[in-house]
Amino acid sequence: MEFRGLKRDIVNSCIRSLGEVGMKYTMEDLAFIKNNRAPQSKTTESMIGKICVVSGATSGVGLEAVKQLAKGGAHIVMVARNLKKAENVKILLHKDYSVSIDIVIADFSDLEQVREAANLIVKQYPVIDLLVNSAGLHSTKRHLTKDGNELVFQANHIAPFLLTMLLLDSIKKSEQGRIIQVNSEGHRFGGLNINDLTWDKRPYIGLRAYGASKTAQLMTVMYLAKELKETNVTINAMHPGGVRTNIGSNNGWLYRAWLHGVVWHFLKDPVISGDALYYLSASPKVNQVSGRYFNLTIDEKPMPHALDKDMGNQIWNISLKLAGLTS
Ligand SMILES: NC(=O)c1ccc[n+]([C@@H]2O[C@H](COP(=O)([O-])OP(=O)(O)OC[C@H]3O[C@@H](n4cnc5c(N)ncnc54)[C@H](OP(=O)(O)O)[C@@H]3O)[C@@H](O)[C@H]2O)c1
Repeated sequence: MEFRGLKRDIVNSCIRSLGEVGMKYTMEDLAFIKNNRAPQSKTTESMIGKICVVSGATSGVGLEAVKQLAKGGAHIVMVARNLKKAENVKILLHKDYSVSIDIVIADFSDLEQVREAANLIVKQYPVIDLLVNSAGLHSTKRHLTKDGNELVFQANHIAPFLLTMLLLDSIKKSEQGRIIQVNSEGHRFGGLNINDLTWDKRPYIGLRAYGASKTAQLMTVMYLAKELKETNVTINAMHPGGVRTNIGSNNGWLYRAWLHGVVWHFLKDPVISGDALYYLSASPKVNQVSGRYFNLTIDEKPMPHALDKDMGNQIWNISLKLAGLTS
């Protein structure tokens, strides 16, 4: 049964995560609980003239981000898998704002589509000011992509990583380029095992697979920030809040019923995610800040497992390989 599978998934994930990190929790590691209720920073800085590439803008966090970017006057390039949904977003934004909006199609479950999308974007936009990767999912079941990766790991980490790397030269040409990877407090679930990224050797636990993808992404954000130290490009990860979106709705009607009937009441309006992403995209206060993890707009310490430098180096090399950027 779907529901029983889901309950088992959550319980197993919590037990394993607590078991793994158990006594290693410090007050600093738990600051995210307090930060969830802290006041957030905002900016009214203009984004007029800025070329902003956003993935995952057809729903939830990404949609709220493009609403704010359109309000700020940005030129938006949406990377979406569903043309109809992207066109509807374009119509919605054009009702209120007369900004330029382009749509480029790429399904993150197919890395070839990501390469093609990146090619199209860099041809049309030799200079890119902002990349926000918000596309992502949570799955209670294991799926493999045709690239041979576990779906969540690919869509949440490898595909945005590839898009980032392929757009990087254009971002470097911006006066002050920014990259924001929409990450998650879910990185705290752990689950990253470099000897079993496809979950062949372990029972698949959705929340831990989600945690693995977000941990890997966080590690590459910190690695790339160091590589970009001498450039005018910053890269940061952010948790967009616990907000009401469509995430998880791919997991069947029982999951959706549980999400909307129970979890929904504990979640916030995703407008806070759009505001926070706009702040991180536009505020001069963070134009020199790089390699950080933000809980909305609050600079927060990730879990120690995400800060493991040796593992971070290994994940960097693995990510390059899985993205087809090295052999
Ligand atoms: N909601 C939260 O509380 C929360 C908390 C922490 C982190 N996050 C992160 O926030 C990001 C956005 O999630 P959300 O909550 O806004 O969920 P959402 O409403 O489901 O939006 C997800 C977006 O990703 C796109 N997407 C999913 N799979 C894709 C694929 N294979 N290829 C291309 N695009 C794909 C979706 O496209 P379609 O519209 O075509 O489905 C949609 O635009 C994710 O990275 C998620 O991990 C969310």
